[in-house]
Amino acid sequence: MNKEILPLLTTDIPQLTLCNRGKVRDIYAVNDTLLIVTTDRISAFDVVLPSGIPYKGEVLTKLSEFWFTYTSDIVENHLITTRIEKMNNAIIAGHKDVLHGRSMLVKKVKVIPVECVIRGYLAGSGWKEYQQTQSICGIKLPAGLRESDKLPEPIFTPATKATTGHDENISFSKVVGSVGKKLAEELKEKSMKVYLRASEYARERGIIICDTKFEWGITTDNKVILIDEALTPDSSRFWPSEGYEPGKPQHSYDKQFIRDYLESIHWDKKPPAPTLPADIIRKTSEKYLNAYKALTGKSLI
Ligand SMILES: Nc1ncnc2c1ncn2[C@@H]1O[C@H](COP(=O)(O)OP(=O)(O)OP(=O)(O)O)[C@@H](O)[C@H]1O
Ligand SMILES: [Mg+2]
Repeated sequence: MNKEILPLLTTDIPQLTLCNRGKVRDIYAVNDTLLIVTTDRISAFDVVLPSGIPYKGEVLTKLSEFWFTYTSDIVENHLITTRIEKMNNAIIAGHKDVLHGRSMLVKKVKVIPVECVIRGYLAGSGWKEYQQTQSICGIKLPAGLRESDKLPEPIFTPATKATTGHDENISFSKVVGSVGKKLAEELKEKSMKVYLRASEYARERGIIICDTKFEWGITTDNKVILIDEALTPDSSRFWPSEGYEPGKPQHSYDKQFIRDYLESIHWDKKPPAPTLPADIIRKTSEKYLNAYKALTGKSLI
């Protein structure tokens, strides 16, 4: 890296209404739109760490923007702009130094309460469920698959959007029960289309998109559009194709150094989390920047 910058851990814009402070993002209401600000916070084992990762917020924002643009011909999305000067808002402009590069102004919609996960490979909770039932979310899979194996074809494995605690995998019929058959089919079809388009693109650039989570919302004129973040290391598992070897967990593009470090010091995974050493922070920041470069072909810094 050619310059050292301080990570941004939190934002404070008292003139705007804060709607939500998630693990990573601070979301403000701006008339009938939302300002999604991605900080440099990072979580591991579901706990936000006291240390931030320089450039992470910018990488997540610019990757989401990249994918929204790349898929805009097949699905509509909520992005209005990431450019502060195009947001036409004096309050936002007044906080430009903090918000620049890490903010998205988006259409505010009615969120559909389903985490639309597509899995192309066997990992995480999917791998756990497979070992117990040979299926994921009620979808029967062939016997004998190994951890990280490629699935015969990508599958839609929805989960509840839990407001507290962990999301829970659910069957397609549960989605039908919650949002109706027509919308459930639409969520599945649209999520699959975006995953296929993105994973094909990523594969040509040496990245496997093991799985990813989409969120969808309904506009006032009843259109289903892609919302939230899209195809970032926080919402997906990215694996470098080089060194991909099924039968064990793969090295992910992002948090591996952090998880390994936290395991090595035997942290009990309960808050408060320990601060990270400078070299772990630096290496993690580089991982995010590398993922951005590999996928977009451009350097962020
Ligand atoms: N265009 C949109 N309109 C309305 N709500 C949106 C839109 N895009 C995203 N959201 C919602 O905003 C929230 C984003 O919150 P965020 O992801 O920062 O935190 P979280 O989901 O509460 O927690 P976590 O940090 O675990 O992800 C989600 O509930 C998401 O559904
Ligand atoms: Mg979220």
